[in-house]
Amino acid sequence: MKKIAILTSGGDSPGMNPAIRAVVRTCIYNNVQIFGVKFGYDGLIKGNLFEMNVSSVADIIQKGGTMLGSARSKEFMTEEGLKKAINTLKIFGIEGLIVLGGDGTFRGANILSKNGIKTIAIPCTIDNDMGYTDYTIGFFTSINTVTDAITKLRDTSSSHGRANILEVMGRKCGDIALYSGISGGAESIIVPEMELNLEKICNKIISGRKRGKLHHIIVLTEGILSPYELKKQIEAKTNIDTRVTVLGHIQRGGTPSSFDRIMASQMGSKAVKLLLEDKTDLALAFKNNEIVSVPISKAVSIKREFNKNLYEIADELSI
Ligand code: F6P
Repeated sequence: MKKIAILTSGGDSPGMNPAIRAVVRTCIYNNVQIFGVKFGYDGLIKGNLFEMNVSSVADIIQKGGTMLGSARSKEFMTEEGLKKAINTLKIFGIEGLIVLGGDGTFRGANILSKNGIKTIAIPCTIDNDMGYTDYTIGFFTSINTVTDAITKLRDTSSSHGRANILEVMGRKCGDIALYSGISGGAESIIVPEMELNLEKICNKIISGRKRGKLHHIIVLTEGILSPYELKKQIEAKTNIDTRVTVLGHIQRGGTPSSFDRIMASQMGSKAVKLLLEDKTDLALAFKNNEIVSVPISKAVSIKREFNKNLYEIADELSI
């Protein structure tokens, strides 16, 4: 294999840049030409490719976001868009493609793979919502950001004797709320995988007050109910002044954590080596402390299992 291309697609995640760096440097080390595709599958459709060299990825290991740009391409999901994308790969003589992203990106990779394009996928999303792997690149950086937000909210929550709701991302997955809630010592964690028990949250606020506790942090996963509606209901039931913070896209930025960088470096290197061994249609995973690979079609079909044990621990620790 002499020409490989790389793209990043979907929501960006901290760690994409170190993964791009690893792919580019591994290619060059092995005398393989490497092309970067700008703005995901859209760039593939438009022929927006450029050749990369060692210096293209200098000074990016510590940077959040993606130097290649990212997009959620609707056109790629049409027959016409797919044809154009495959045609671009032919024009540039690309023999193997490495894609970085989440669920939607992997579905695109699955289609390309079924159409004979040698494809390897690397899981990059802050959501950690992919069932086939224990971890996705960017998740732990995002958890650090949310934990920092919880820590700051606790200060002001205690000063004013309030309850504070922090809405976090995650789409349909509660992992960001759960893991940051545990590490930040949140009093209540609301996730889509578990039924919302408002009565229990309010009772916890009231019993905390009775024993002199001044703060109460509620981490709420986006998309379950409006944080402002939740605030209204909590205030009506407890009479405790409640504030809302929506953390938003801050969770997607920032310098990648060491763990995310190390994983990104290993997965980037492995993706190239698999292509050089003429392997295709594989998604990389971190499973039982090892980097392994599974067919992309399998990767997209496995539903994420919620860590109920960790949720119960969070509940026990926040009495
Ligand atoms: O998938 C990553 C994610 O940040 C989700 O947590 C969130 O729901 C979504 O992307 C936001 O998408 P956008 O950046 O397009 O608003």
